[in-house]
Amino acid sequence: MSTTKVLALVGSLRNGSTNAALAEAVVAVAPEHIEVDIYDGLAEIPFYNEDIDVPGQVPDAAARLRAAVADADSLLLVSPEYNGSAPAVLKNAIDWISRPFGQGAAAGKPAAVIGTAFGQFGGVWAHDEARKSLGIAGANVLDAAKLSVANSVVRFAELHPKDDAEVAGQVVKVLEALAGTASTEGAAA
Ligand SMILES: Cc1cc2nc3c(=O)[nH]c(=O)nc-3n(C[C@H](O)[C@H](O)[C@H](O)COP(=O)(O)O)c2cc1C
Repeated sequence: MSTTKVLALVGSLRNGSTNAALAEAVVAVAPEHIEVDIYDGLAEIPFYNEDIDVPGQVPDAAARLRAAVADADSLLLVSPEYNGSAPAVLKNAIDWISRPFGQGAAAGKPAAVIGTAFGQFGGVWAHDEARKSLGIAGANVLDAAKLSVANSVVRFAELHPKDDAEVAGQVVKVLEALAGTASTEGAAA
């Protein structure tokens, strides 16, 4: 079986992020045929601005993101919810990989969104918004491959997500869907 390269983009920049921990869990539980890289560098990317999105002059940090997404077989967003929506850092990344229009790095990529937030619904609004934006950006969004974990900072205060059997099991299903090696059912842990 060939290896599927999944690039994970994390929507929280803070030290101690539960979503960064969830992304680490994705790496830890990935089946042998799926390689997951966590993208490092979203914080350095300037806000999207068509004036600086000029062929040959794209800011390095944005060009690096585009290259990393282009190199991946599929995309996994791992995000909290900020004020009922996706954090700006993640939306900014989606905007950069959505352009040039119709030929952005996201175009045609299988993509899924998971994450954890403090609220009782685990960030579903943010995850739905991210799925909507990714789809408009041209990604092949796998709507059923999802996971929204409630009570982030409480649930993962002592327990790392990789050691949370329910979460780990759902993460594997999402990865198998991204790799096209299994069908998946949505879940809210
Ligand atoms: C600016 C801001 C807005 C937030 N808005 C929401 C929200 O709308 N819904 C929610 O469930 N949690 C919200 N939270 C709480 C986050 O879900 C929670 O802090 C989460 O653990 C952040 O992710 P992280 O641990 O990966 O940094 C918000 C937190 C911040 C800092």
